[in-house]
Amino acid sequence: MGLHDRVADWAKDFDHTDEVWAADPYAIWDELRSTCPVAHSERYGGVWLPTRHEDVVAIAYDTERFSSRSVVVSKFRAPIELAPVGTAPPISSDPPFHKQARKVLLPVFSPRAIAALEPSTRAYCEELVEQLRGRDVVDAAADYAQHIPVRVIANMLGLPESDADMFRRFVHHVLEGVSLPIEERVAGMVPLFDYLQGHITAHADAPQNDLISLLLDSEVDGRKLDVFEVARTIALLLIAGIDTTWSAIGASIWHLARTPADRDRLVAEPELMPKAIEELLRAYAPVTMARLVKEDMDWNGCPMKADDWVLLPFPSANRDPAAFADADDVVLDREVNRHLAFGVGIHRCVGSHLARMELTVALQTWLAAYPDFELADADAVRWSEGQVRGPRALPLRIRA
Ligand code: HEM
Repeated sequence: MGLHDRVADWAKDFDHTDEVWAADPYAIWDELRSTCPVAHSERYGGVWLPTRHEDVVAIAYDTERFSSRSVVVSKFRAPIELAPVGTAPPISSDPPFHKQARKVLLPVFSPRAIAALEPSTRAYCEELVEQLRGRDVVDAAADYAQHIPVRVIANMLGLPESDADMFRRFVHHVLEGVSLPIEERVAGMVPLFDYLQGHITAHADAPQNDLISLLLDSEVDGRKLDVFEVARTIALLLIAGIDTTWSAIGASIWHLARTPADRDRLVAEPELMPKAIEELLRAYAPVTMARLVKEDMDWNGCPMKADDWVLLPFPSANRDPAAFADADDVVLDREVNRHLAFGVGIHRCVGSHLARMELTVALQTWLAAYPDFELADADAVRWSEGQVRGPRALPLRIRA
């Protein structure tokens, strides 16, 4: 959103929404890992940036000293009174409440439940690639990747797909409007909650076979969730489900567009897809989440203060040479690949099976329709800013 001063010193004054970071954060993280592995910035009221795999994992597991009360760094921290529930359970919840809030979602995102959604996802991807036929240059982010996850999650929730633009606007506001003044930040969220309230009330009056009705029927702490609680979890699923997967699909297509050897290999050896998906998720992991420090402490020599932010850059952990051989190379058939793209610890992604299914189907369908494509204009590729990173403009020349 460009509302901040440019960064001159990444070790002492970084800003993860800076356009230099958005364009290529890997060089920044590589440098920090070897010179200042836990960077610090006074921006956003104080934020730490561990870049090593070991440190990211240690903090993700340490729910005693780090809270998930707020997970998107901005000038606004959720008030302490909201713990252990937070604003968007389960991602904003701390133990012991977190476990119950997470349990509600697990059956809907199980491998079996997700496998049932594959045929309709494939049919939709095929529809999208057909719409591009006959064109020379297309935008694989705007014309293809962005449509897939929003449609899948809208159908799962029981919301009209035709409202996709509103969902994307809301997610963009939450994830990229982090430098806005607090009043504007809050005001930008109101229309979605007003909208959701109407749909939730309609579901309460006439239950459907979808996720909104399931949430309305769920119990946490021995009582049913109220309309506002259901709305907050729906908002989380929109945030967690849309830009993340859109980013992963786009970044994977971007990699294949600029690496013809990998593209041709994946076309020639389709059985490589499961390993390739894991490697693309490792190399271009889109999601960095955050924690709040619970109390003043010395953490491995870092003087952390209560309510300081700590970014958890899972994408940086995935590029740490101490954890992965040839960490900056994309090795499509990498054998051992315990990457952190979906996080680690109690908050590990609930939607990982869904994300993998969408990514697999999106790449298979794209490659089947357009096995030969390249970047039309490398300088026109634009990446999102902030904690979920992926291409938002990706012009490709397609030859079909
Ligand atoms: C490639 C796509 C995705 C990536 C890389 C990703 C990544 C992540 C990460 C790193 C976390 C951990 C957050 C933390 O530690 O604070 C997380 C949590 C979560 N994700 Fe995903 N995600 C993806 C897709 C999805 C989808 C499609 C959904 C569902 C619609 C989803 C739902 C969730 C939920 C509900 C949580 C919170 C779990 C908890 O707190 O227990 N994610 N995701």
